[in-house]
Amino acid sequence: MGPLPSPASFRAGLAWALLSVSLGMDFSLQESLLLKSLGLSTKPSPKIPVPVPSVLWRIFQKRKMPPASTELADGCRVEEFNVPGNIIRVLADQGHFMHSGQPQPSLCLQKRLYFNLSVLEEGERLTMAQLEIKFSHNSYHASSQGQVFELRLYQAPRLPLRGTPSPEPGRTLLVEQSFARLHKSLLFNLSGVAKDWRTHSRNLGLILEISASGRGGEAAGASGGPQSLCASIDSFLDTSLLVVSLSQQQCRASRRRRSAYNIPVTPSNLCKPRRLYISFSDVGWENWIIAPQGYMANYCLGECPFPLTAELNSTNHAILQTMVHSLDPEGTPQPCCVPVRLSPISILYYDNDDNVVLRHYEDMVVDECGCR
Ligand SMILES: *[C@@H]1O[C@H](CO)[C@@H](O)[C@H](O)[C@H]1NC(C)=O
Ligand SMILES: *[C@@H]1O[C@H](CO)[C@@H](O)[C@H](O)[C@H]1NC(C)=O
Ligand SMILES: *[C@@H]1O[C@H](CO)[C@@H](O)[C@H](O)[C@H]1NC(C)=O
Repeated sequence: MGPLPSPASFRAGLAWALLSVSLGMDFSLQESLLLKSLGLSTKPSPKIPVPVPSVLWRIFQKRKMPPASTELADGCRVEEFNVPGNIIRVLADQGHFMHSGQPQPSLCLQKRLYFNLSVLEEGERLTMAQLEIKFSHNSYHASSQGQVFELRLYQAPRLPLRGTPSPEPGRTLLVEQSFARLHKSLLFNLSGVAKDWRTHSRNLGLILEISASGRGGEAAGASGGPQSLCASIDSFLDTSLLVVSLSQQQCRASRRRRSAYNIPVTPSNLCKPRRLYISFSDVGWENWIIAPQGYMANYCLGECPFPLTAELNSTNHAILQTMVHSLDPEGTPQPCCVPVRLSPISILYYDNDDNVVLRHYEDMVVDECGCR
């Protein structure tokens, strides 16, 4: 590796912070700067890492694909959901099961759902929230075939004290739906509700109720009371909230270009991009960055001598500066070799609350350099 590029030759940003971390500069300062730009207070240390939701893997893999060179990718739009956004989080449910005051025989389960939206920073605009309800289907209860369940989702009115009977009056019904197939995820659009949770900062969560209606069960010849109908619904249901948001960082359409591997390794001391692979395990981040494990970030280095040629992508100002420099080398420095085109990458990671996050970052890879 050549001499250190001067900090001024880099756009301030994530890529520079990462580079300085990997080059062993004032590590903790650079690390905290970088974590801050990722929206993290400290380095996450996921205790029991949750599996990466398949929808996030799919989007991540798709973004990694080398696109046609002319394809324009809008990093601030999630094409899969057709909404603006550069951050996708999957928040785990933090609610608890509830005990019903007056036992209703057909009620299979009642659970408070709570998603802590304070992980979203103030400047982020929430553009989509989707609740997913999955059942860890118990294959012993194949009798669920043909059975129909009723699902009701309420907006919770207030937090009950432990042990007090619930449901309380005053809750608002959001969704009522019957379903029969337990192996399919149920998806609900909660964009409006989640926006309301943020703006009025009174997120009291939701109440989920699932009861066995039994209609289909009778048709299928199922015997026994509602309790046996409920048995096919495993109480270990898995609920999560997928939240898409747009952070205030500048968004622009950029040509996604995986030029990193095409940078020629020709000996030259002229200004040009140099290969640099940043490995997240080298900086001790392999525990919380899920993917990629590292990436070709590159950097700019080299001379900007007089006379500047067109390949050096200089500005009129830089051309004048080299002229003045050639006349007075002591008084005026050469122009600097800096990135003139950068491309973005997406990073999949665990945040401080063990949520899985897929985030798009601009200006992470140096594609072209110029004398400026
Ligand atoms: C939500 O998370 C924030 C930190 O991100 C925490 O301070 C707050 O107590 C949490 N709220 C609840 C109700 O758990
Ligand atoms: C979700 O609901 C919001 C309003 O609450 C609506 O604007 C949006 O179009 C809905 N999204 C879908 C995919 O239906
Ligand atoms: C200047 O830009 C051209 C394309 O516009 C590129 O091919 C060339 O590599 C760039 N020069 C440097 C030093 O990066």
